[in-house]
Amino acid sequence: MSNFKCIEFVDDKLKLIDQTKLPLVEEYILSDDLERIALAIERLEVRGAPAIGVSAAYALALSFKFIKDDYENEFQKKYDRLTSTRPTAVNLFWALDEMKSKFENLTDYTNVYGELLKKAKEIHNDDVEKCDGIAKNGLEIFTKRSTVLTHCNTGQLATGGGGTAFYVIQRAFENDLVEFVYADETRPLLQGSRLTAFELEKAGILFKINTDSTAAMLMQQGKIDLVITGADRVAANGDSANKIGTYNLAVLCKYHRIPFYIAAPTSTIDKNCPDGSQIKIEERSKDEIIKIKDVQISKREYDVYSPAFDVTPNELIAGIITEEKLHKPPYNF
Ligand code: MRU
Repeated sequence: MSNFKCIEFVDDKLKLIDQTKLPLVEEYILSDDLERIALAIERLEVRGAPAIGVSAAYALALSFKFIKDDYENEFQKKYDRLTSTRPTAVNLFWALDEMKSKFENLTDYTNVYGELLKKAKEIHNDDVEKCDGIAKNGLEIFTKRSTVLTHCNTGQLATGGGGTAFYVIQRAFENDLVEFVYADETRPLLQGSRLTAFELEKAGILFKINTDSTAAMLMQQGKIDLVITGADRVAANGDSANKIGTYNLAVLCKYHRIPFYIAAPTSTIDKNCPDGSQIKIEERSKDEIIKIKDVQISKREYDVYSPAFDVTPNELIAGIITEEKLHKPPYNF
């Protein structure tokens, strides 16, 4: 994957790889239009908590390219549109609030676009550094050469940098601490079988894709040494929201006495959220369940329940790896 970037600022525009088309087609979205970037976030053309935050920061900056007056009202409208895209990943709100405090601290409006763009680039670079810190700190969880299972996608495609849980796995692999990876396919949008598999291939790591329901059997067969996933929001007590199916894994790990870790930047920690019950869980559309891509596989009249995330209680989490350190329970952020 080193030959391309998920998020890039080029020619005064935001360039995003369209993740809905990967791994079969590598196609890019090039835009300086806030509405187009907001749609990209809603459609999961760009996804993963840190990547959403970085993209939204660029979108907000870009929307001021041609604004010449009424700055305060315009800022609020654009901020509101972007915060409405996806509710669970706190990185979105964190990044937009960083942009807001930059805007509020401007002494004049002579170069709003330039100043906001500088801030968006800082948020992007900061994410690169946070990912590096997570990868380094994550080495601590390995006591031997291990087989790891992961869920959803947490690599370069999900962040502005090298990734979170994926980057820990990659760094450990480079240090001869990972011998094999099982990638949950991650129903319904298949971030595991499409995106994680793609990143594992690029990193040269041996892997197999498994259906989400195969994880239990793999653990029963003694094939998994540890599980690492990312998070979209970590509450102050360590309860962690992540892609639907993560909680299943944590429960399975407890039964099979396998350590379950979360890797996330501090921008994913929501200190204002006391526990997991306060995390807003996004519900996705019926189409994502009754269809696979454009092929309808079930009846439109059937009701669907499709939460995009679940919450893993803190007592099931062996450690939370951030760029600061490996946090151990009890968690108190
Ligand atoms: O719906 P998605 O694909 O945005 O969900 C992403 C996840 O659940 C990731 O595990 C999480 O954002 C961590 S990304 C480093």
